[in-house]
Amino acid sequence: KDRLQSIALERVSFAYTPGEPVLREVSFTAQQGQTVALVGPTGAGKTSVLNLLQRFYDPDSGRIRINGVDLRHWDIRRLRGMTALVTQEPVLFSATLRENIFARPDQADEATVTRILQAAHCEALVQRLPLGLDTHLEKGGASLSSGERQLITIARALARDAQLILLDEATSYIDSQTEAVIHKALHNLIAGRTCVLVAHRLSTARSADRILVLHQGRVAEAGDHRQLMERRGLYWRLHRQ
Ligand code: CTP
Ligand code: MG
Repeated sequence: KDRLQSIALERVSFAYTPGEPVLREVSFTAQQGQTVALVGPTGAGKTSVLNLLQRFYDPDSGRIRINGVDLRHWDIRRLRGMTALVTQEPVLFSATLRENIFARPDQADEATVTRILQAAHCEALVQRLPLGLDTHLEKGGASLSSGERQLITIARALARDAQLILLDEATSYIDSQTEAVIHKALHNLIAGRTCVLVAHRLSTARSADRILVLHQGRVAEAGDHRQLMERRGLYWRLHRQ
């Protein structure tokens, strides 16, 4: 199995439309097990960083390296195999809940299933559904709340034991109780894994090893929570809004 040691962006610039750059010379590194949080106003380029890390697009200039190797030289299936994406709009399959979480349900023993449901805080959901894990999710989970769908994608990422977690936190309104549950599930997902997370709630960014404040595609500030608060710049001002 591939081991992820490091990811690095080196002066990455990118435009969806030529002449309209959305990322400008963005650099950061994350070592195995570290979390980098991206914060900043809407349109700052946060999700675009995740798009580049999945190779939906390639940078116009600069480099992205994983384990020191240029991302363009990685086999795309190997890359996707070690990456789990937890998005704003989770996509569920019209299949059972079990099949939505475990790629090979027959290979997941009971102890593993229990551990993953616990870590992803999916137990209440499983109990609520008429056939539990074997409930068929109609229309990709249309009857579930967005918070529940997000917990399921967290369980899926745990089941795959992905090495690199790319997380785009939901902007949609969720009540504070659900938010707390998701927060705990995310904490379990991120622990010990390498993670690039787009944080809309500043509380999620707080414990990251490194926080980048993006502004108009540039890294305006970088540091951990304490350093950025002491700086009394953009990050500090975001907290006062
Ligand atoms: N953009 C674009 N084409 C796309 C995606 C995004 O032109 N396919 C533009 C957006 O309009 C925006 C810029 O790229 O001006 C950055 O977008 P994005 O990275 O998605 O911004 P975020 O920081 O993720 O914004 P939000 O907080 O709203 O998710
Ligand atoms: Mg976004």
